[in-house]
Amino acid sequence: MTPDVNQTIREIAINNPATVRIFETLGIDYCCGGKRPIAEACARANVPLETLMTALAELGPESVSPEEKAWTAAPFRDLIGHIISRHHGYVRQEGPRLEALLDKVVNRHGTDHPELLSIRDVFLALNQELTAHMFKEEHVLFPFLQQMEAASRSGEPMPAACFDSVGTPIARMLADHDDAGELLAKIRALSGDFQAPAGACRSYLGLYHGLQEFERDLHMHVHLENNILFPRALEMDQMLRQESAYVTH
Ligand SMILES: [Fe+2]
Ligand SMILES: [Fe+2]
Repeated sequence: MTPDVNQTIREIAINNPATVRIFETLGIDYCCGGKRPIAEACARANVPLETLMTALAELGPESVSPEEKAWTAAPFRDLIGHIISRHHGYVRQEGPRLEALLDKVVNRHGTDHPELLSIRDVFLALNQELTAHMFKEEHVLFPFLQQMEAASRSGEPMPAACFDSVGTPIARMLADHDDAGELLAKIRALSGDFQAPAGACRSYLGLYHGLQEFERDLHMHVHLENNILFPRALEMDQMLRQESAYVTH
Protein backbone atom coordinates (compact mmCIF):
# COMPACT_ATOMS: atom_id res chain seq x y z
CA MET A 1 0.00 0.00 0.00
CA THR A 2 1.06 3.60 -0.53
CA PRO A 3 1.22 5.30 2.86
CA ASP A 4 -0.02 8.85 3.27
CA VAL A 5 1.97 10.69 5.91
CA ASN A 6 -0.97 12.97 6.68
CA GLN A 7 -3.23 10.13 7.77
CA THR A 8 -3.79 9.04 11.34
CA ILE A 9 -2.89 5.56 12.51
CA ARG A 10 -6.60 4.87 12.95
CA GLU A 11 -7.38 5.81 9.33
CA ILE A 12 -4.63 3.56 8.01
CA ALA A 13 -5.75 0.65 10.19
CA ILE A 14 -9.36 1.03 9.04
CA ASN A 15 -8.45 1.31 5.36
CA ASN A 16 -6.17 -1.71 5.45
CA PRO A 17 -6.67 -3.99 8.49
CA ALA A 18 -3.46 -5.88 7.67
CA THR A 19 -1.49 -2.82 8.76
CA VAL A 20 -2.28 -3.55 12.40
CA ARG A 21 0.25 -6.39 12.27
CA ILE A 22 2.92 -3.85 11.37
CA PHE A 23 1.80 -1.47 14.12
CA GLU A 24 1.81 -4.34 16.59
CA THR A 25 5.30 -5.49 15.60
CA LEU A 26 6.71 -1.97 15.81
CA GLY A 27 4.96 -1.21 19.09
CA ILE A 28 2.89 1.61 17.59
CA ASP A 29 -0.38 2.26 19.40
CA TYR A 30 -3.25 1.80 16.94
CA CYS A 31 -6.14 1.31 19.37
CA CYS A 32 -6.41 3.80 22.28
CA GLY A 33 -3.94 6.21 20.64
CA GLY A 34 -5.09 5.65 17.06
CA LYS A 35 -6.09 9.27 16.50
CA ARG A 36 -2.47 10.39 16.34
CA PRO A 37 -0.90 11.29 12.99
CA ILE A 38 1.75 8.87 11.72
CA ALA A 39 4.77 10.98 12.65
CA GLU A 40 3.56 11.61 16.19
CA ALA A 41 2.71 7.94 16.74
CA CYS A 42 6.19 6.93 15.50
CA ALA A 43 7.86 9.45 17.80
CA ARG A 44 5.96 8.13 20.82
CA ALA A 45 6.97 4.56 19.98
CA ASN A 46 10.59 5.54 19.23
CA VAL A 47 10.24 4.18 15.71
CA PRO A 48 11.85 6.07 12.79
CA LEU A 49 9.12 7.35 10.47
CA GLU A 50 11.02 5.86 7.54
CA THR A 51 10.81 2.37 9.08
CA LEU A 52 7.04 2.51 9.27
CA MET A 53 6.63 4.05 5.83
CA THR A 54 8.81 1.34 4.28
CA ALA A 55 6.92 -1.44 6.03
CA LEU A 56 3.58 -0.01 4.91
CA ALA A 57 4.80 0.45 1.35
CA GLU A 58 5.84 -3.21 1.21
CA LEU A 59 2.40 -4.40 2.28
CA GLY A 60 0.52 -5.77 -0.70
CA PRO A 61 -3.25 -5.60 -1.10
CA GLU A 62 -3.46 -9.37 -0.90
CA SER A 63 -2.03 -9.35 2.60
CA VAL A 64 -5.42 -8.95 4.28
CA SER A 65 -6.51 -12.27 5.73
CA PRO A 66 -10.23 -13.15 5.85
CA GLU A 67 -10.18 -12.60 9.60
CA GLU A 68 -8.92 -9.08 9.11
CA LYS A 69 -11.79 -8.07 6.90
CA ALA A 70 -12.88 -4.49 7.00
CA TRP A 71 -15.74 -3.99 9.41
CA THR A 72 -16.59 -0.51 8.29
CA ALA A 73 -19.74 -1.55 6.44
CA ALA A 74 -20.78 -4.77 8.19
CA PRO A 75 -24.02 -4.74 10.19
CA PHE A 76 -23.49 -4.03 13.88
CA ARG A 77 -24.94 -7.45 14.61
CA ASP A 78 -22.05 -9.11 12.73
CA LEU A 79 -19.32 -6.87 14.11
CA ILE A 80 -20.62 -7.17 17.67
CA GLY A 81 -21.00 -10.94 17.25
CA HIS A 82 -17.39 -11.11 16.09
CA ILE A 83 -16.14 -8.98 19.01
CA ILE A 84 -17.98 -11.12 21.55
CA SER A 85 -17.17 -14.53 20.14
CA ARG A 86 -13.58 -13.83 19.19
CA HIS A 87 -12.31 -11.25 21.67
CA HIS A 88 -14.57 -11.47 24.73
CA GLY A 89 -14.37 -15.24 24.39
CA TYR A 90 -10.59 -15.00 24.25
CA VAL A 91 -10.42 -12.94 27.46
CA ARG A 92 -12.75 -15.37 29.23
CA GLN A 93 -10.64 -18.33 28.16
CA GLU A 94 -7.16 -16.88 28.54
CA GLY A 95 -7.75 -14.77 31.65
CA PRO A 96 -8.22 -17.67 34.08
CA ARG A 97 -5.56 -19.77 32.33
CA LEU A 98 -2.96 -17.01 32.67
CA GLU A 99 -3.96 -16.33 36.28
CA ALA A 100 -3.35 -20.00 37.12
CA LEU A 101 -0.06 -19.97 35.21
CA LEU A 102 0.99 -16.79 37.03
CA ASP A 103 0.35 -18.51 40.38
CA LYS A 104 2.49 -21.43 39.32
CA VAL A 105 5.39 -19.30 38.05
CA VAL A 106 5.23 -16.93 41.03
CA ASN A 107 5.40 -19.89 43.42
CA ARG A 108 8.45 -21.29 41.68
CA HIS A 109 10.34 -18.14 40.72
CA GLY A 110 8.81 -15.25 42.67
CA THR A 111 11.67 -15.11 45.17
CA ASP A 112 14.32 -14.68 42.49
CA HIS A 113 12.10 -12.55 40.26
CA PRO A 114 9.89 -10.38 42.48
CA GLU A 115 8.59 -8.50 39.44
CA LEU A 116 6.44 -11.59 38.82
CA LEU A 117 4.38 -10.71 41.90
CA SER A 118 3.72 -7.24 40.53
CA ILE A 119 2.83 -8.68 37.13
CA ARG A 120 0.34 -10.99 38.83
CA ASP A 121 -1.25 -8.10 40.75
CA VAL A 122 -1.59 -6.00 37.61
CA PHE A 123 -2.93 -8.88 35.53
CA LEU A 124 -5.53 -9.75 38.19
CA ALA A 125 -6.66 -6.12 38.20
CA LEU A 126 -6.78 -6.09 34.40
CA ASN A 127 -8.76 -9.30 34.19
CA GLN A 128 -11.21 -8.09 36.82
CA GLU A 129 -11.71 -4.78 35.02
CA LEU A 130 -12.20 -6.50 31.69
CA THR A 131 -14.77 -8.88 33.12
CA ALA A 132 -16.88 -5.99 34.42
CA HIS A 133 -16.30 -4.02 31.22
CA MET A 134 -17.42 -6.83 28.92
CA PHE A 135 -20.52 -7.37 31.05
CA LYS A 136 -21.49 -3.71 30.53
CA GLU A 137 -20.89 -3.96 26.80
CA GLU A 138 -22.83 -7.19 26.41
CA HIS A 139 -25.77 -6.23 28.60
CA VAL A 140 -26.16 -2.50 28.02
CA LEU A 141 -24.28 -0.94 25.15
CA PHE A 142 -24.18 -3.66 22.52
CA PRO A 143 -27.90 -4.57 22.73
CA PHE A 144 -28.72 -0.88 22.47
CA LEU A 145 -26.52 -0.45 19.40
CA GLN A 146 -28.26 -3.34 17.70
CA GLN A 147 -31.68 -1.88 18.53
CA MET A 148 -30.49 1.47 17.25
CA GLU A 149 -29.36 -0.10 13.99
CA ALA A 150 -32.69 -1.90 13.62
CA ALA A 151 -34.49 1.41 14.17
CA SER A 152 -32.28 3.06 11.61
CA ARG A 153 -33.04 0.39 9.02
CA SER A 154 -36.80 0.32 9.61
CA GLY A 155 -37.28 4.04 10.06
CA GLU A 156 -38.64 3.47 13.58
CA PRO A 157 -37.97 5.98 16.37
CA MET A 158 -34.90 5.63 18.59
CA PRO A 159 -35.21 2.82 21.14
CA ALA A 160 -35.79 3.72 24.79
CA ALA A 161 -32.60 4.27 26.73
CA CYS A 162 -31.51 5.01 30.26
CA PHE A 163 -29.00 7.58 28.99
CA ASP A 164 -29.36 10.84 27.10
CA SER A 165 -27.07 9.87 24.27
CA VAL A 166 -25.17 6.77 23.25
CA GLY A 167 -22.10 8.98 23.63
CA THR A 168 -22.44 8.62 27.42
CA PRO A 169 -21.88 4.84 27.69
CA ILE A 170 -19.35 5.00 24.86
CA ALA A 171 -17.31 7.59 26.77
CA ARG A 172 -17.28 5.22 29.76
CA MET A 173 -16.12 2.34 27.58
CA LEU A 174 -13.36 4.50 26.09
CA ALA A 175 -12.17 5.42 29.58
CA ASP A 176 -12.15 1.72 30.54
CA HIS A 177 -10.07 0.98 27.44
CA ASP A 178 -7.55 3.66 28.43
CA ASP A 179 -7.31 2.11 31.89
CA ALA A 180 -6.79 -1.35 30.39
CA GLY A 181 -4.14 0.07 28.05
CA GLU A 182 -2.24 1.48 31.02
CA LEU A 183 -2.34 -1.87 32.82
CA LEU A 184 -1.10 -3.65 29.71
CA ALA A 185 1.77 -1.15 29.42
CA LYS A 186 2.68 -1.83 33.06
CA ILE A 187 2.84 -5.58 32.42
CA ARG A 188 5.00 -5.00 29.36
CA ALA A 189 7.36 -2.76 31.32
CA LEU A 190 7.55 -5.10 34.35
CA SER A 191 8.34 -8.07 32.11
CA GLY A 192 10.98 -6.19 30.10
CA ASP A 193 8.94 -6.50 26.91
CA PHE A 194 8.05 -10.09 27.76
CA GLN A 195 11.68 -11.22 27.80
CA ALA A 196 12.00 -14.19 30.14
CA PRO A 197 15.39 -14.57 31.87
CA ALA A 198 18.02 -16.87 30.39
CA GLY A 199 17.33 -20.49 31.25
CA ALA A 200 13.70 -19.82 32.12
CA CYS A 201 11.52 -22.93 32.41
CA ARG A 202 8.75 -23.75 29.97
CA SER A 203 6.05 -22.38 32.26
CA TYR A 204 7.87 -19.06 32.55
CA LEU A 205 8.31 -18.85 28.77
CA GLY A 206 4.71 -19.91 28.23
CA LEU A 207 3.51 -17.27 30.65
CA TYR A 208 5.33 -14.44 28.90
CA HIS A 209 4.20 -15.68 25.51
CA GLY A 210 0.62 -15.88 26.76
CA LEU A 211 0.75 -12.38 28.24
CA GLN A 212 2.08 -10.99 24.98
CA GLU A 213 -0.67 -12.72 23.02
CA PHE A 214 -3.21 -11.36 25.50
CA GLU A 215 -1.89 -7.86 24.84
CA ARG A 216 -2.02 -8.38 21.07
CA ASP A 217 -5.61 -9.62 21.20
CA LEU A 218 -6.73 -6.78 23.43
CA HIS A 219 -5.18 -4.25 21.05
CA MET A 220 -7.22 -5.65 18.16
CA HIS A 221 -10.32 -5.87 20.36
CA VAL A 222 -10.03 -2.21 21.40
CA HIS A 223 -9.25 -1.18 17.83
CA LEU A 224 -12.50 -2.71 16.59
CA GLU A 225 -14.47 -0.88 19.27
CA ASN A 226 -12.65 2.48 19.48
CA ASN A 227 -11.92 2.95 15.82
CA ILE A 228 -14.80 1.24 14.05
CA LEU A 229 -17.84 0.32 16.13
CA PHE A 230 -18.07 3.37 18.39
CA PRO A 231 -17.49 6.04 15.70
CA ARG A 232 -20.11 4.34 13.52
CA ALA A 233 -22.54 4.23 16.45
CA LEU A 234 -22.01 7.91 17.25
CA GLU A 235 -22.62 8.79 13.61
CA MET A 236 -25.82 6.75 13.54
CA ASP A 237 -26.93 8.27 16.84
CA GLN A 238 -26.55 11.76 15.39
CA MET A 239 -28.43 10.82 12.27
CA LEU A 240 -31.31 9.29 14.21
CA ARG A 241 -31.42 12.21 16.60
CA GLN A 242 -32.14 14.48 13.72
CA GLU A 243 -35.03 12.28 12.73
CA SER A 244 -36.58 11.47 16.08
CA ALA A 245 -36.40 12.30 19.75
CA TYR A 246 -35.05 9.88 22.30
CA VAL A 247 -37.58 8.14 24.49
CA THR A 248 -35.93 8.33 27.91
CA HIS A 249 -36.98 6.88 31.21
FE1 LIG B 1 -15.28 -5.46 24.13
FE1 LIG C 1 -14.52 -2.59 25.23
